[in-house]
Amino acid sequence: MADTTTVLGEYFIIRALENGVQVIGMTRGSETKFHHTEKLDRGEVMIAQFTEHTSAMKIRGRAILYTKHGTIPTVED
Ligand code: TRP
Repeated sequence: MADTTTVLGEYFIIRALENGVQVIGMTRGSETKFHHTEKLDRGEVMIAQFTEHTSAMKIRGRAILYTKHGTIPTVED
């Protein structure tokens, strides 16, 4: 169950710069596996949190991540 800390946790944003950007959620816990793949098309934005199910994410394709660690493009132009 999601506790308050999880639900109120930090959000970050993925902004797709091309079609078919993949956001791949990876499991929390002793086994690290993909558990979710989301496809974003150019101009689409996803706002997401890390949760008790998701501890890491892999982003494939051209996108910009807006996080508390800064604004991170997946590729340098
Ligand atoms: N059901 C997933 C979870 O609660 C949804 C999710 C949260 C997710 N953050 C994500 C999926 C980041 C992909 C990427 O963990």
